[in-house]
Amino acid sequence: MSGKIEIIGGLPLRGRVEIRGAKNSALPILAATVLTRGESKIRNCPALSDVRASLEILKYLGCCVRFRDGEATVDSTELNGAPIPETLMREMRSSIIFLGAVLARFGEARLCAPGGCDIGLRPIDLHLGALGEMGARVREGGGMIVCTCPDGLRGADISLSFPSVGATENVMLAACAAKGTTRIFNAAREPEIEDLAAFLNCAGARIRGAGSAEIVIEGGKRLSGCEHTVIADRIAAGSYLAAAAITAGSVTAVGARAEHLRTVLPVFRAMGCEVTEVCDGLRLDAPQRLDAVRYIRTMPYPGFPTDLQAPLTACMCVARGTGIVRETIFENRYKHVPGLIRLGADIRLEGGCAVIRGVDRLTGAHVEATDLRGGFALVLAGLAAEGKTTVSGTAHIDRGYENVCGTLRSLGARVCARQTGPDRGNAQ
Ligand code: EPZ
Repeated sequence: MSGKIEIIGGLPLRGRVEIRGAKNSALPILAATVLTRGESKIRNCPALSDVRASLEILKYLGCCVRFRDGEATVDSTELNGAPIPETLMREMRSSIIFLGAVLARFGEARLCAPGGCDIGLRPIDLHLGALGEMGARVREGGGMIVCTCPDGLRGADISLSFPSVGATENVMLAACAAKGTTRIFNAAREPEIEDLAAFLNCAGARIRGAGSAEIVIEGGKRLSGCEHTVIADRIAAGSYLAAAAITAGSVTAVGARAEHLRTVLPVFRAMGCEVTEVCDGLRLDAPQRLDAVRYIRTMPYPGFPTDLQAPLTACMCVARGTGIVRETIFENRYKHVPGLIRLGADIRLEGGCAVIRGVDRLTGAHVEATDLRGGFALVLAGLAAEGKTTVSGTAHIDRGYENVCGTLRSLGARVCARQTGPDRGNAQ
């Protein structure tokens, strides 16, 4: 069931928010349990719909799965390698992350093609090309991807034309079972990549260089279940700091790590916010009114993260002055702009950029979330707007933010969640 969030805006958010485990770390780590024998305990695992979808896939593959109080227990000793049904694959676009692990474990993987989503076409050519270089035979057609490697996977030197997060992860997973050594050049450097490598090394893999542009994986190690605590979600942390910024509030993101937001914190400071590293996280104290930042460009990590582009665009809507936001990672990641304009923002899309002229106030209206981070941006704008804002399509938001209404209410926001019609499906 999808739902909507009703917001009465204009109140400053104040208080502390516990930042949960990172969705984009938990998902590949859950997929990685397919490579292990025995039981793994994954702590600080966020209770999100995408995590639940991953656990369903693991169950379908024959794993014994339990999830309680933020801890996922997965025993993948007995697996059946059945093709993952389309319904489960469609639950979550990033289920493509199971490709490398299933292929490595069973020598064959049949998945439905993930397809595009609201933020872009989301091709997987880099994933498939890399697996091909490792000896996989890849067939695509009829909406399906069939990968086989009857002679097993072999280590290879993989140069990614773009530091794709998912492709880096799929190669790391496949390389753990390959014969020989795999080196990934131009690898993604996100903290979630380091977290995946930490889990795999704890399970018995030999991976070096995760977090840098060159990762070396020695294949052929037998992996056993292990215990791992997922890192804090840097995107959720940045999102809730943005909630403080846009409402002239003061919020501490407990568990947030400054080293994972090195190119984000200066943007908040340039907007006039005071951002302090405190003993248990990051605290943001916002000014009465934000200053516009002249230019934000999204880049692969450690550049400004694309997943915080929409929340920061929302902040710019009420800032003093004009700013430009250039999204360089996904070709269609401005789907939140019409909703922001409907709330009274002054934004023009020109030449692949959003030109945002800050206005004195936004006015509540009914808007619709079309993707995860864009949906959260609309909630942020509603928190700043005068009057009542209704954001529908909240199934998108629930994919990446745990208990968003409860969390915002705990910070003083006047919000409530309402269930509405059937789920509007999933996206990226
Ligand atoms: C991961 O997506 C994240 N998802 C995304 O978070 C995040 O925005 C993205 O990395 C970039 O940081 C998960 O980790 C589950 P990419 P992913 O492969 O792996 C192109 C969120 O909101 N590309 O790094 O799909 C692609 O089209 C989500 O939490 C190819 O061309 O991202 C895009 O333009 C959204 N061919 C760019 O690379 C490929 O084979 C970045 O994609 C693969 C990607």
